[in-house]
Amino acid sequence: MAKMEVKTSLLDNMIGVGDMVLLEPLNEDTVIDNLKKRFDHSEIYTYIGSVVISVNPYRSLPIYSPEKVEDYRNRNFYELSPHIFALSDEAYRSLRDQDKDQCILITGESGAGKTEASKLVMSYVAAVCGKGAEVNQVKEQLLQSNPVLEAFGNAKTVRNDNSSRFGKYMDIEFDFKGDPLGGVISNYLLEKSRVVKQPRGERNFHVFYQLLSGASEELLNKLKLERDFSRYNYLSLDSAKVNGVDDAANFRTVRNAMQIVGFMDHEAESVLEVVAAVLKLGNIEFKPESRVNGLDESKIKDKNELKEICELTGIDQSVLERAFSFRTVEAKQEKVSTTLNVAQAYYARDALAKNLYSRLFSWLVNRINESIKAQTKVRKKVMGVLDIYGFEIFEDNSFEQFIINYCNEKLQQIFIELTLKEEQEEYIREDIEWTHIEYFNNAIICDLIENNTNGILAMLDEECLRPGTVTDETFLEKLNQVCATHQHFESRMSKCSRFLNDTSLPHSCFRIQHYAGKVLYQVEGFVDKNNDLLYRDLSQAMWKAGHALIKSLFPEGNPAKINLKRPPTAGSQFKASVATLMKNLQTKNPNYIRCIKPNDKKAAHIFNEGLVCHQVRYLGLLENVRVRRAGYAFRQAYEPCLERYKMLCKQTWPHWKGPARAGVEVLFNELEIPVEEYSFGRSKIFIRNPRTLFKLEDLRKQRLEDLATLIQKIYRGWKCRTHFLLMRKSQIVIAAWFRRYAQQKRYQQIKSSALVIQSYIRGWKARKLLRELKHQKRCEEAVTTIAAYWHGTQVRREYRKFFRANAGKKIYEFTLQRIVQKYFLEMKNKVPSLSPIDKNWPSRPYMFLDSTHKELKRIFHLWRCKKYRDQFTDQQKLIYEEKLEASELFKDKKALYPSSVGQPFQGPYLEINKNPKYKKLKDAIEEKIIIAEIVNKINRANGKSTSRIFLLTNNNLLLADQKSGQIKSEVPLVDVTKVSMSSQNDGFFAIHLKEGCEAASKGDFLFSSDHLIEMATKLYRTTLSQTKQKLNIEISDEFLVQFRQDKVCVKFIQGNQKNGSVPTCKRKNNRLLEVAVP
Ligand SMILES: Nc1ncnc2c1ncn2[C@@H]1O[C@H](COP(=O)(O)OP(=O)(O)O)[C@@H](O)[C@H]1O
Ligand SMILES: [Mg+2]
Repeated sequence: MAKMEVKTSLLDNMIGVGDMVLLEPLNEDTVIDNLKKRFDHSEIYTYIGSVVISVNPYRSLPIYSPEKVEDYRNRNFYELSPHIFALSDEAYRSLRDQDKDQCILITGESGAGKTEASKLVMSYVAAVCGKGAEVNQVKEQLLQSNPVLEAFGNAKTVRNDNSSRFGKYMDIEFDFKGDPLGGVISNYLLEKSRVVKQPRGERNFHVFYQLLSGASEELLNKLKLERDFSRYNYLSLDSAKVNGVDDAANFRTVRNAMQIVGFMDHEAESVLEVVAAVLKLGNIEFKPESRVNGLDESKIKDKNELKEICELTGIDQSVLERAFSFRTVEAKQEKVSTTLNVAQAYYARDALAKNLYSRLFSWLVNRINESIKAQTKVRKKVMGVLDIYGFEIFEDNSFEQFIINYCNEKLQQIFIELTLKEEQEEYIREDIEWTHIEYFNNAIICDLIENNTNGILAMLDEECLRPGTVTDETFLEKLNQVCATHQHFESRMSKCSRFLNDTSLPHSCFRIQHYAGKVLYQVEGFVDKNNDLLYRDLSQAMWKAGHALIKSLFPEGNPAKINLKRPPTAGSQFKASVATLMKNLQTKNPNYIRCIKPNDKKAAHIFNEGLVCHQVRYLGLLENVRVRRAGYAFRQAYEPCLERYKMLCKQTWPHWKGPARAGVEVLFNELEIPVEEYSFGRSKIFIRNPRTLFKLEDLRKQRLEDLATLIQKIYRGWKCRTHFLLMRKSQIVIAAWFRRYAQQKRYQQIKSSALVIQSYIRGWKARKLLRELKHQKRCEEAVTTIAAYWHGTQVRREYRKFFRANAGKKIYEFTLQRIVQKYFLEMKNKVPSLSPIDKNWPSRPYMFLDSTHKELKRIFHLWRCKKYRDQFTDQQKLIYEEKLEASELFKDKKALYPSSVGQPFQGPYLEINKNPKYKKLKDAIEEKIIIAEIVNKINRANGKSTSRIFLLTNNNLLLADQKSGQIKSEVPLVDVTKVSMSSQNDGFFAIHLKEGCEAASKGDFLFSSDHLIEMATKLYRTTLSQTKQKLNIEISDEFLVQFRQDKVCVKFIQGNQKNGSVPTCKRKNNRLLEVAVP
């Protein structure tokens, strides 16, 4: 092997099971579960043996890239996870290498992804087959035939936006090298009824919309068309636009594809002309017209459209008009012409449109075939791809469904046949004993339909050809007679009484039990559709057309070749083509792709289990699996088998030297797998039960884990050891280097330390020597200095008496002493008198004695004052103390003060003891009286004054009437807070009382007295000695007094001399009391 390939298997990383053959247990539920599980993980492909099941993902998956193509190229089928590419590769390789013609049968219902699958197969084959200019052109032509056919044969249906409305079988031809040479396409049963009528929500064939949207104005004019869809009766209006489909762009694609496939320009134009003619046919309308003979006749309403059609197709207008009005029946040289009524005219019109279109389609297929036909005559290998509608069960099933289902029956039959055949062939090839397989063979149903003598199709033909009145009912009656006893035929009217009471089976229907389920067919329309009648007049009119293509489409219209024999019925035609197809397929090696539609919504990620179950059932997948694993569920060539499981046995692990088969034998023996579980074929081992395979897989998985651990262990051990050895070696090297370096470093350190120490010691020694030398030198110098000083002292002592330098100072001191002596002696005689007030003092004799002179004066004064004071008695001392107090309080503050200095303080001026008038007053006072004097009390209201006796005792202040001596008020000293007076030369004063005390009810007192200074001083001293508090004395020319509630301002002003020298007092208002001082 040139390159190392990693052997993989389908069994690796499977989701569910990749091959349903391995399902355990096997039943419908597990099959569907498996599909769902895989679908949910975006695994849309699953195998049943070599059959690929594909579930439509309805979204683009990244599994079709060129890399994927490379992955699957030249790999064994079971090597990778299931994929349509694996099947394509297998088919292509066995075609190329084993010379086996292949066919790829793709089935499934509408929208299941058949067409997509066929395209994928073709693109894969195109990608892997040979290259080169010629080959590429062939490939391109083959691939480009698709868009052309899809434009004309596909339409939007409710199930599929791009549903193929025809069956297609394409043979791709290859040369011996596997290079494509060309191809042949066969088409089956185009759904032509769609041309004239479309079910709700569906469209006509794409080409009509593409033409109207994409053609240039010029082309439209030429074709006499208008762009507006709504102009055309044949185009249903709803859903004319399909999401995500650009009709105009597709038109260009189709034109381009036609060019590549090889259509000449004029051919392409002709084709479009026919399409235009069909569209316009739909717009022809008829109206009834009564004829004289009583027969109804139809007339064309508006001949304009007809005229344009005739211009477009080159038909004589009168010919075509006549063909829409009359019908000629020819029988035995007799021509009978009858008129058509309106309904018949419409029928004729639609029949013509349908025929024109379906014949155009067949012509297109033939034309494409001509282009892609292989050019050589050498023997060719063939790969056929069949994309045909699947089994259909609708609510109303008609002739078309019947035909389609018949085709599917046939396909199922060859599927069973071929699968079994293949299985059997493999058994024979591998020399394994063939075990009979039970399965349902649907040959009996095919027979019911296609039997030449009493098959349903034969009955239908017979009925159509029978003279006399033929209706769908007579056909059903006939069926009832002939098929009644058939197991798979059911009808209410049949003689067989089984269904007489089956209400689910209407009278106008028959039911067939197809392999895929029961289908109820509505008999209405069978005869008509089978006849597929086009009035001869119309085909003749068409043949007469000047348009070459149209003429060629209706050869039967040529009167020269008139053929009275009826053309073959649709049923028999189809039967014949199916038979050809089956024959064709039987010669080939079949490959199956069975498509499944996961939901009805064309939506991604939705998996409708009911819907899938139904498809699984009618596709017969379960049957398929059963057939496939009837004998042996799993088989595998010896080499890959040994390769996969050799680790499970000592002898085969890790290498087996002998042939692979022997290895597998040893392996299976060792594992003690029961012998009935497997058989040895020639090249493959056959395993009967999936369980055995899974057991092997489990063992393998376990063993792989063990092996992985073992490998890990050894690898880790090896890795650690190598690492350790490396580390050790490195460590030694590093240590050696490090030691050398450390030693070097240490030596250098010691060396430099020794040098430092050395230098220190040397320095120290040198300094010590220097110190000693210096000391010695200083000692020598000191001795000299001391000696010098000593000598000096000695000499000075000896010679001092011989110097005069100090004489001046001595003389000065002596002189000064004499002068001071004289000063003091003179002062003794000059001292002034001893009176302290004597201000005389002798003048000083010398300037320098100034301070002494002053000091002497002060001392003398103090001394004589002391002498003076020493003469005082105690009483005199008291009087002077009081005077001193008065001086401290009032000196320089009150103008009245200087006049008081000379007056002695007498205190009790009024001698109340001596005056009998005041006896009562005297008795009331027990304490010592300090002041007793007449004062003027100022009336608070008007400022007038009254005389009162003012008494100050140790503790109280008393006011008494001057005449009676009756006490008017008594104020304890503690209640006196302040004394206020002016700074001027007047005797007014206010006594402020403590707020709230008993005596203060009338307010503060305002007095005037000649002895104000004495009274204030005494009041102050008494308060101080009694209450230890300094009485507040305020001296101000404006102060506030409290009279009852009012605060009154007492203001002192400069009065005039008018009233003499007595101050006057006046209450100005309730805020102001003015005292005018002269
Ligand atoms: N393999 C696929 N991957 C992605 N989308 C798919 C695939 N197969 C089918 N489809 C989608 O489903 C639609 C219908 O598929 P189609 O092949 O036309 O169905 P059928 O031919 O069976 O009627 C396609 O238009 C496409 O959108
Ligand atoms: Mg299709």
